[in-house]
This record gives sequence, C-alpha cells and structure tokens, in this order.
Amino acid sequence: MCGIVGHVGDEQATPILLDGLRRLEYRGYDSAGLAVHARDGIEIVRAVGKLRNLEKALLQEGLPGKVGIGHTRWATHGRPSEVNAHPHVAGPVAVVHNGIIENHLELRSELEASGFTMSSDTDTEIIAHLVHRETKEGHDLATAIRRSLEHVEGAYAIAVLSESEPDRIVVAKNASPLVIGVSQGATYCASDIPALLPYTNQMVFMEDGELAVLEAEGFTLTKLDGTEVSRRPRSISWSPVMAEKDGYKHFMLKEIFEQPRALEDTLRGRLDRENADIATPEIGLSDEDAKSIRRVILLACGTSHHATIAGRYWIEELAKVPAITELASEFRGRDAVVGEGDLVIAVSQSGETIDTLMAAKEAKKRGAKVLAIANVNGSAIPRMSDASFYTHAGPEIGVASTKCFITQLANLLMFSIWLGRRRGAIDNAQAGELVEGLARIPQVIGERLRITHLTISDIVRDFADARDVLFLGRGLGYAMALEGALKLKEISYVHAEGYAAGEMKHGPIALLDARVPVIVLMPKDRHYERVSSNLQEARAREARIVGVTVAGDTQGQALCERFVEVAETSEALSPFVMVVPLQLYAYCVADHKGTDVDQPRNLAKTVTVE
Ligand code: F6R
Repeated sequence: MCGIVGHVGDEQATPILLDGLRRLEYRGYDSAGLAVHARDGIEIVRAVGKLRNLEKALLQEGLPGKVGIGHTRWATHGRPSEVNAHPHVAGPVAVVHNGIIENHLELRSELEASGFTMSSDTDTEIIAHLVHRETKEGHDLATAIRRSLEHVEGAYAIAVLSESEPDRIVVAKNASPLVIGVSQGATYCASDIPALLPYTNQMVFMEDGELAVLEAEGFTLTKLDGTEVSRRPRSISWSPVMAEKDGYKHFMLKEIFEQPRALEDTLRGRLDRENADIATPEIGLSDEDAKSIRRVILLACGTSHHATIAGRYWIEELAKVPAITELASEFRGRDAVVGEGDLVIAVSQSGETIDTLMAAKEAKKRGAKVLAIANVNGSAIPRMSDASFYTHAGPEIGVASTKCFITQLANLLMFSIWLGRRRGAIDNAQAGELVEGLARIPQVIGERLRITHLTISDIVRDFADARDVLFLGRGLGYAMALEGALKLKEISYVHAEGYAAGEMKHGPIALLDARVPVIVLMPKDRHYERVSSNLQEARAREARIVGVTVAGDTQGQALCERFVEVAETSEALSPFVMVVPLQLYAYCVADHKGTDVDQPRNLAKTVTVE
C-alpha cells in the first residue's frame, strides 16, 4: 500500500525522503511525490510510475529545504496519474495520506458547495481542503487538523505541511500505520520501519486517534482531543543492512536464502531441549490458560493463512484441541460464533493487515483471547492482542513472503508443542523428537539451498512457459501446495491452483493435459501412497509431473518427469523442507519471464485498506 516519509531537521530533506521512499517501494505503488518547505513556500514535485521518474523530475526542478514529506501512492480512489499523486495541496497546506476516507463523497459535495475546487479524484485532497478551511479560520496547523478530522470517517495516516509553520510536520493516524523516528537534531515519520533504519533505530509507534507535531528537536504527541500522551521511543533491533539486497539479484532470492538464519533467530532461546518443551515466557499465556482453551481459531490472510492451515493440523494433532482456520476477511464479514474459551491466533507478517486486525478485534470484543504471531515489533495486531509471540525473520522486503512464512510455521509448531505439553497430549519422547528436529531444521534447509536452486533453475527451463500449473498435496502438504500456487501466481502471473490431492478428481482433473505441469508434494508421510495414486491419475491424463520428493525416494521419482529432492524429516517437520523448492520454483519462473519479482504488479506488501 502507499508509503509515507517525512523529515524535519538540519539536513536537506529531499535525499532523505527519496531514500525513505525507495526503502518503502516494496509496499507497492504507482506514483510518487514530495513536498518541501523551500525558501518561497511549499514546493511540490510528483510523477507517475517508478521513483526514477520522480528523480528525473527532481533533477529538473530541484527541491531544496530541510522540512518535507514524501509519498508513494497505490491507487484506490482515482487512477494513477500525476494529478492524483500525493502530496495534495489546498491553499498553504500540503498533505500525504495512506488509507481511505469512507465519507469522501459527502465531504466533497459539502466542500464544493462552499466554493472549494477539487483538482483530483482522490479522497486525500478533501483532507487538504478541510485543513485549509480551518487554517483560514485562524487555527494553527495542529488545531486545524484536529478539527478537520472530526468530520472524517475511515482509515488514515497523514503527514501535513503548512506554509505558515515551516519548521514542523503534523501527523495523525487512525487504522493506518505510522511511526515517528527520533535522532539528534532530526525527527522523522514513516508508514513503515525500514524507511527510517539508516537514520535512527529509536521509534515511537503511534496509536489510533493520535496526532503529533514533529520538529527538529523532537515531537509532542497528543490524542486528537488534545490530551497529552507520553510515550518513549523503542529501540528497533533491525539494521539497515538487513533491508538491503546484499549482492542477490532480488530481495526475494535473498530472503529465500536467509531462511536458515531467520529460523535460527526465531527458534533461539525458545527450544527447551532439556525438558523437551518450548520455553516461551513471551507467549503471555499461563499454563491455566492453556488448559482452559476450548477451541483455537486461526485468522490470517494470504500466505499467512496458508501457515495457519499447517498450524491447525499441528494444534489438533499435537495438542488435541479443536482448531479451525479462517480467512480473516471472511470471518469479519459474517456473524461468527466466537467467545470465551476461544483462543484466536492472529497471524500476520506486518501486524497491520486490516482484515486480520479487525477480525481479531471483533473476536476480542466477543470474549475470545487473542494471541498475535507477527514479525513487526509493536505493530497494530500485537498491540491489540492479549499476548504476542513474535517471529524474528527481520525486515521482509520482497512483496512475496518467504522467510516470514517459514518463521510463522516455526512459531505455530512451537505453539502446538507448548499447548500439547500443557494439556498432556504429547509425551516427553514425542515432544523431544519434535524439539530436536526443529533445532536441526535451519541446518537441514541450509545444506540443500544451493543445490535446490540449481535443480529448480534447470527444471524451470522446461516448464516456464506453462500457462496453468497445479500443485497437489495432502495433509501438511496441502497447505504447502496452496502456498506454492500463490507464490507462482503473484510473482510470475502464471495461473496456478493449489489443491488437496484427494480433491483433484472432483474438478481440476478436467484441466489436465500434456501442457499442464502438476507439481506433486511427496513427503514420506501417512499420505504418501494416496498421493502417489493421485499422481498416477494425473500422469494417465498426460500431465507433466514435477515431484518434490525426499532424497532417495526412487520409487516416487520414477513416476515423475522431473523431480527435486528435499531432506527426509518427520511428518510434522515436512512443511519446512517442502516449501523451499516451491518458493524457488516461483522465483525462477518469474526471473525467467523477467517480471518485477520484488514488486509484482497490483500487489502491496501490507494491505491496510479493505
Ligand atoms: C503473499 C503475501 C500476502 C500476505 C498477506 C497478509 O506472498 O505476502 O499474501 O501474506 O497480504 O499479510 P500479513 O502477513 O502482513 O498480514
């Protein structure tokens, strides 16, 4: 979704704003712009398309000044165009905005009726005019914004400049994320942490309904009604280097190769090998809580939802607690039966996905306990949850999630073991095997990454032109099949379906012919024989089989046109090894086709609008 950056301090703002926007590119955008307090007032430069177009425009215009705001826009209201790009200006006021103003039509007619002229199709311009109207009444910028926001319904993170207050930026938020960065002699704002990492690791996470005035010497934080809020900055442990490509062609490839490290960081200190248990004080649930849970409801979107399908299987298998998983957008759209005794696990890389956030809030309101599994410290979902169990994957920049997915799997499996131990559903020996197996997983994956990449690059030469691809698996393999198909769709634009292998006969088999690759997940688990039969059925329709097989499975490999080997693990651990070749398959097809791997068209890293 859109990105916001702001700087007020001693340095020139434009290079910092551009650098920040570049670091937010992964969120997805179609136009960009800057507003800077220059000597003779606010100057604005905007451009459609990638940031290089904005840079070109800046070369012509120049934009000197030390206080400024920048924005990358992902179109919601009004097509991508220079006129619709942010910042939007009304009189002396310039605004950048993330989110959606729900009552914008009503506000637009009201403003037009009182003589304001709109120059764009956006909902954001309305905020600029509202603030302008209030400044005309003689209010200072912060008051003008407060008064304006009283009329606004919807989600917003805004950063605003006014020509009459050239030494400050005023920011406010409701439902869309915004952080303030603090350093010696400069204050920043951004919609996401990576934008600010080169400048500071001291960050304040704004809450809904707050407004802040940013000046070079610091900031003042208040509620929208003016009540003062005191919040100290937190130290963020991510380093700027973590958000760089480090010699890899794409962030996605780097992040796939980072998975052993991301898993190590996520598992560190949590595997209690001595007691065959999970040591997670930060789960924040007591042993009593564990015993009183009647049902687990896993809520998430997209890739995180696929992790929850594996999570559901683990929870039922290892803790013997009924578990369901549901897309957060569906859960919140219906009158779900949820309440006391339910534990909702909200899984989200960003911790800001609007549907997951709202679904978890709704469940909490109805009496469920909420546990967040998130990667971004201090993000909205952990903040509203009763407890948080973070993944430690580091910043994920590629829009297609890889290392965060695998660490979500790790947290969900750890949680299942933790719950199973407390409910007496797994014994020492079984828990010990799982804990030991998990401890080895980073190394097991790391050892095969290069060879898997080489094998998949080779396979992809024969299959990259396929227009449809089917991914089949059963049990935990089904969750990975869904994930493999989503990865391929989103970055290579190839139509792909993930299917429970047993369901193939109920529909997708009609699609099969000699042009359709079928990628079959064949871990040596309880489903192996049945998956092999499904594979035979696909073969009989001349489909081209690519097997993801365990090393040395010559019987399975003989059924495949091509295969890639993964390490043999216990059934519970198989998703960790199975998903890596699928991520690489999607990556290699996309790279072969030359698509924009890290920023696929139409997609945004963090979906903060509905
Ligand atoms: C796909 C992908 C998305 C996200 C989804 C939820 O690769 O990354 O499907 O998984 O938008 O995002 P989070 O996990 O931030 O809630």
